[in-house]
This record gives sequence, C-alpha cells and structure tokens, in this order.
Amino acid sequence: MDIQRRRFDALIIGAGGAGLRAALQLSLADANVAVVSKVFPTRSHTVAAQGGINAALANVLPDNWHWHMFDTVKGSDYLGDQDAIEYMCRAAPRVVYELEHFGVPFSRLENGTIYQRPFGGMSQHFGKEQAARTCAAADRTGHAILHGLYQQNIRAKTHFFDEYFAIDLLRDQSGFVLGAVAFDIMTGVPIVIEAKTTLLATGGVGQLFRTCTNALINTGDGMGMALRADIPLQDMEFFQFHPTGIAGRGMLISEGTRGEGGYLVNSEGERFMERYAPHAKDLASRDVVSRAIMTEIREGRGCGPDKDYCLLKLNHLDADVIRKRLPGIRDMCLTFLNIDPIEEPIPIHPTAHYTMGGIPTNRNGQVVVPKKETPEEQVPGLYAAGECACVSVHGANRLGGNSLLDILVFGRAAANHIIQYLHENPYHRKLDEGSVDQALARLRRWDQKGGTESTDELRRELRQVMEEHIGVFRTEEVMQEGLDKVKRIAERLEHASLKDDSKVFNTARVEAMELENLIGCALATATSALARKESRGAHSRIDFPHREDAHWMRHSLYSLVNDSLDYKPVRTKPLTVEPFPPRERVY
Ligand code: FUM
Repeated sequence: MDIQRRRFDALIIGAGGAGLRAALQLSLADANVAVVSKVFPTRSHTVAAQGGINAALANVLPDNWHWHMFDTVKGSDYLGDQDAIEYMCRAAPRVVYELEHFGVPFSRLENGTIYQRPFGGMSQHFGKEQAARTCAAADRTGHAILHGLYQQNIRAKTHFFDEYFAIDLLRDQSGFVLGAVAFDIMTGVPIVIEAKTTLLATGGVGQLFRTCTNALINTGDGMGMALRADIPLQDMEFFQFHPTGIAGRGMLISEGTRGEGGYLVNSEGERFMERYAPHAKDLASRDVVSRAIMTEIREGRGCGPDKDYCLLKLNHLDADVIRKRLPGIRDMCLTFLNIDPIEEPIPIHPTAHYTMGGIPTNRNGQVVVPKKETPEEQVPGLYAAGECACVSVHGANRLGGNSLLDILVFGRAAANHIIQYLHENPYHRKLDEGSVDQALARLRRWDQKGGTESTDELRRELRQVMEEHIGVFRTEEVMQEGLDKVKRIAERLEHASLKDDSKVFNTARVEAMELENLIGCALATATSALARKESRGAHSRIDFPHREDAHWMRHSLYSLVNDSLDYKPVRTKPLTVEPFPPRERVY
C-alpha cells in the first residue's frame, strides 16, 4: 500500500510545555522540526496547570537554588536523582526569565518583578521557614505558558501535525528509533514520519484513575509506545494524588489556594493539618496532606451527609485576594458547585494528579535503559521529556510547581542534545519497513469486526479498578486483587472490537489505541507497586509502613515485553554540591 511519507530532522510527539519548549529550541537552531499532537496544541494538558512554576528568584523572600534543591530531594523522599535535581533547580531562574521574554504574562509585584507565592514543601534555609518560590500568572500559569510557547513556535515556523495520533515508534534492527507512524484523526489516513531523532513529550497517565485532575487526553500514549518498543518504564508505583480535587469530580483546586492562606478543616471545624505537619501545616508536601485528608475521612471526621470529604476554607481571605490571585478557582467553583469561595468553603478530596514515573532518561533527555554489560545504554535517536519521562527529579513524590519547571528545563535540555546529535548524525538511516507494517497492523486491527468486548466498558472498568486497588493507601491483598483484575482486562482486550457495523469512527480508533496504552501503564503501575514492600513518598503501604533505605533506595523498571521488573540504583551524587543524605521526612 502506498503510504504518505515525510522526513524531518526531529519529530516531537506531544505539544504540551515539554514538546513546545523543545520544538522552539530546535526551530530556532534551524532544525527541520515536526510536532505531532492528537489535539490542537493549545489544548494540551499543560494548559490546565494552575498554581505556578518554581524558581529561586527571591522576589518576595530571600531564596537560592540550593534550598530549592534540598526541598526537591526531601520532597522526593530521597528517591530523586540528585544530579538531575541540581541541574533543574540551577536552571530554573533562567527558564523563567526566558518565558518572560517570550511574552508570558506573569502576575506582578508592586515593584514590577514576577509575583511568587508560597507552595507546599518549599522552604528557606534547608527546611526552616516557608519559602515563596512559585512564579504565577494568577491561577492560570500553564495556560499563559502554553500560549506563549505556541505563539513563539508559530513565529519560528515549527511544522505542526495537529490532530494526528501517533500509533507506534519505528525502530530498526540495531535499536535506532527512526520516527513514528501516525494517522490523521479527521481523515483516517496514516502517515510515516521519518526522523533522525524522536522526542516523546506525551504527558502523563492520569486517566488511569476514575477520579483525576487530568484531561481525557492523558492516556500515557508515549509510555505505551515505549513499552511496546521494549523500553521499560521507571518508578511507575509512584502516582501523585493531589490533596484538593473537587470532591466527587476530581477537578483541580490549586495548591495556590493554600499558598494564598487557605486551609483545610474537618467536620469538627478543626484545622487538622496542625496535627500531621506542625511546622508546614497545610503547606506540607502533597503526599502528606493527601494521607491526612484520607485519615480524617477514614476516622469519621469527614464532612457532608456521607462524611466523605473535607473542606478547603478560603472565605476568611480578603475577597480581593481571591478575585485577583485565584480568579479561575472562583470561576470553577461558581460554575460546577454553585459555591462562591469568597463566601463558603470548598468540598475537596484527594484525586489522581501526576505520574512521577515514566520513560527513563538522563538529564539530556536521552532515553536510557540498563543493560547487563553496561550500567546504562542509550536508545539511539530517542528522547523523552516532561511527565511521560522519568529523569528522575520527582522521585517518590513531586513538589507542586516543579512540574512546569521540569517540562521546560528538560524540554530545552533534550533539544540542545538533539542539536548536537544532528551535527554528528546528519543523514537519515534506512527505514525498517517491517516496523512500518507492524504499526499499521495496530491501526487496522481495530477495523476487524466480531469481538465480544466493548472498549468503552473495558476503559471504564480499568479506571475503577485502579482507583479502588492502587490508591492513596495500599496493601498486598488489595493490590494483588487489582493487578489480577487488570490482567483480566488486558486479556479481554484481545476480544474487543469497535462498532459491529460498516462504520468505525476514527475517534473510536483513537480511544481503542489509548486503551492499549492505558493498560500497559496500569500493568506497570500495579506490578511495580505490589513489588515495592516499603512506604516512600506517594507509595504508602499499610502493611509496610516504613521507608527501608537499605533495600529500596532504587528505581524500579517494568518491562511489558517480558512482564518483568528490574531495578537500578538512585543517583545520589549531585553535580557540584554535597549530597543530601536520606533523613526522616517531617514537615
Ligand atoms: O496545585 C496546583 O496548582 C498544581 C500545581 C502542580 O501540580 O504543579
């Protein structure tokens, strides 16, 4: 079959902050860049980031990158790689000033400098006083950044394939990644995009859980592609539950609300975070606050007729602070809850928010996998950045405001490395037609009729299982049951087909392939979680309540092809400063 083919220096899959930051760097360096996105770029999930981006600018309070680094290492429960964390925290002020020059409309202080708010787990003087490090554009920071980056890419003439779905990576016999096969969601026409380098920037997999802050598009597509290309996923047991999703619905109520002075109360009107984190209180790290809320609910101090949520109080704040600094939150509460937070508290519940794990990379964004003979081997031609990657700067728990930072720092770093790679590898390698056929077969599989299972139903069940079995608190028995159920769903997928009539809609094809990606990520998450017999960061086991550094200071690596787990050591050595050794983590 004749199939459309295009060639580029670099293919970027995903048009959120990581993809667009990388694309801009590459286009400005005169590389020929294609960005493939299954949605129009400014609808990518970065647009939903609210509270801000961390950088030690010291505009509000004294600050420096070394304190930021300490907080990030501690926040990661010491599982983060300290070389990558140092790199990110040192680069943070530069990437924020770059954004300012790209035209991102940050909120301003009276003196004209960028507004910075306090966020969870952030401190001055290595854990002493609260810091104000999170640079914000009101509570629409991601929106402001994504639009700024998109405009800059249009100016730099980046080539966009909007509303194209990437099916699979193209890999040759020597292991080189040579682009991907995608298809146009509107017409259904497939396309081979050959590229000397490919960057996965497809975001996280929040759609694994029934209640989440994530957009419907966050289905772990890059992670699924990596798994099928025999690349393992790292640290998938660590999934962040944001403390303040709207109860029962999951929509994000920014940590910025607590940064501006909001606090949590239980049914007795008690400000309970004082018991769990006497120093940082409501601005403790997210894993700590989510566990505290769940404990209040489990012990019968939840609010409402079913005692199944807690309340976030903002109504003691000056109404102008809410109007000026949190307009989006107010709007959302008015629209979806008919509650004005100026007058009334907001019902909240922890909700699935962020994938700490992902495709293993080094700090140049190169995808690296451990090999028997060498400690790590790069997958030639393949890069990953942002939430789909695990570099690992977040370890077992990410700090709020470090996600926008991660996507920009490592999107940029990956692009810089790609530029160097392109100098050294100026020619396209010969494509392996077998890998094209394999990707196309994956698309055509969904045109077959006669299956007994519905993809919609399998997706619904999968999300329910993950929510019930791999949640904030975990035990062996509950997780094992969850993993067994996920495996049964994976088997049933073999018998699934789309509508059994003459028409199959392209959107249904996309959803079916997303389901395959979700199932790969679910197997990785449940298998890795079951195997880690300790509590660390967001992975909180009732049956193994303590952190066990002697055995578990290591990253997990799940491989779908063999359904197996491997481990690799944490990189505890920073680039230039002394390491932060593991300590008891209190806030
Ligand atoms: O709470 C928030 O505004 C979310 C920020 C983040 O996840 O970094």
